[in-house]
Amino acid sequence: MRILFCSGEVYPFSKTGGLADVAASLPKALLKLGHEVKIISPYYQNVHHRFGEIMTKVGESTVSMGDINEQATFYKTDYDSIEHIFVDSKNYFDRRRFYGHVDDAERFTFFNFAILEAMDKLDFFPDIIHINDWQTSLVPYFLDEKSRLDSRYNIKTLLSIHNLEKQGAYPIEIEKLFNAKNYTYIHLNQVNFLKCGIMRASAINTVSETYRNEILTRFYGFTLDGALKARQYQLFGILNGLDSDVYNPRTDKLIYQSYDETNFEIGKKINKESLVSEYSLMPDKPLLAFVGRFARQKGINLMMDSIDQFLIEERINLIVVGEGEQEYETYFEELQEKFPNSVCYQHGFDQQLSLRAYAASDLFLMPSLFEPCGLNQMIAMRYGSLPLVRSTGGLKDTVTPYNKFTGIGVGFAFENFDSQEFIDTLNEALDLYHNNPTAFKELIRQAMHIKHSITKMSLQYDELYKKIIEDAI
Ligand code: GLC
Repeated sequence: MRILFCSGEVYPFSKTGGLADVAASLPKALLKLGHEVKIISPYYQNVHHRFGEIMTKVGESTVSMGDINEQATFYKTDYDSIEHIFVDSKNYFDRRRFYGHVDDAERFTFFNFAILEAMDKLDFFPDIIHINDWQTSLVPYFLDEKSRLDSRYNIKTLLSIHNLEKQGAYPIEIEKLFNAKNYTYIHLNQVNFLKCGIMRASAINTVSETYRNEILTRFYGFTLDGALKARQYQLFGILNGLDSDVYNPRTDKLIYQSYDETNFEIGKKINKESLVSEYSLMPDKPLLAFVGRFARQKGINLMMDSIDQFLIEERINLIVVGEGEQEYETYFEELQEKFPNSVCYQHGFDQQLSLRAYAASDLFLMPSLFEPCGLNQMIAMRYGSLPLVRSTGGLKDTVTPYNKFTGIGVGFAFENFDSQEFIDTLNEALDLYHNNPTAFKELIRQAMHIKHSITKMSLQYDELYKKIIEDAI
């Protein structure tokens, strides 16, 4: 099967979140199944600076959007044996930040049109086009328009939703860029890219079963629950996998000491002692880690309500690695100033320190408000750091909470977005850590044993693509 994977970001070229990781790991796994896969994403400034030397120019086209004519230049490079195609426009993508500009609607309308142009330039008309999130959600609509004149564009599509909160919603005037009008992109009197994808893709999926069901409700639906309900028979849940070649404490060169399921006790001890001493934290405390994007979604507010007390009582050390919304960055800066001997905060996405935090920590905090899948809790488990999560979305599907009667579990979980429940669960985890180390170690062993394989994920996509192509949905 020939697959074109379209994404606003792909690791290692561009990354702001988990989408970039899936855009790297899924095509890689599909290739192993024998499919022909190409990935297309924007040629951001950073891609040019860091990877410009390995790019080959493959063509140019003019994209017409209403009164605007803008040149698209296509580059390609092979990475991990997969052809990566990039769409360049000096006007739109030669910027440091990928999203959040006043002209995002124009930039990404251009990108969606340019994807269709690239297919022509590269003479690659795949069996299926896999689009992701709002950034590529206009593709099915543009394909429909174009296929009326050119049957090569009569191609089925799958939309994967990794983030329902960000929808690409813009003033209605933007529709003049589309060259044709209709109602499928209109939502709450705005143009809404994601709504357009939901209405027009051949099928839709999100990245866990639980989240698939949650988004049909008002709370998790972010106003699109109605649109999703209209398409619920073409809406699926496929859990993300984790690339175990990339995340493997046995072969990881960036952590202080490598280890696996058989020797994690000594391995994790060395990692913890090294990190604690490097960052001058208090010795002999349980180490908690938070790694990720600082967004409301991630439940940092629950930590803000409760972590102070644990730090004042000197019951924990905390390591935080990440960046994001200002409010949270300021909070972590202040927390570090207030508790210099028990909090280590590193601003930014420092890959080495993140891996060291996974390897060194005892507990990994992920009390998300909502979570389509979540990759970090999977990484944490692989490195033997027990996730403490709110049971929602992918967290519910991947973290079986400790059962004190059977001893089964891979972490700790609570139900409601409630600080007291978070505190109680943290107390439960700390109690087990101190008073039943044998059970705690058994949980670590069980957590490390879990494999969220990317092969399994790719087989499920493979099956879904086939159904879509055969019109069997
Ligand atoms: C987004 C979601 C996260 C998911 C990732 C990849 O970042 O927030 O839950 O794991 O996409 O699908």
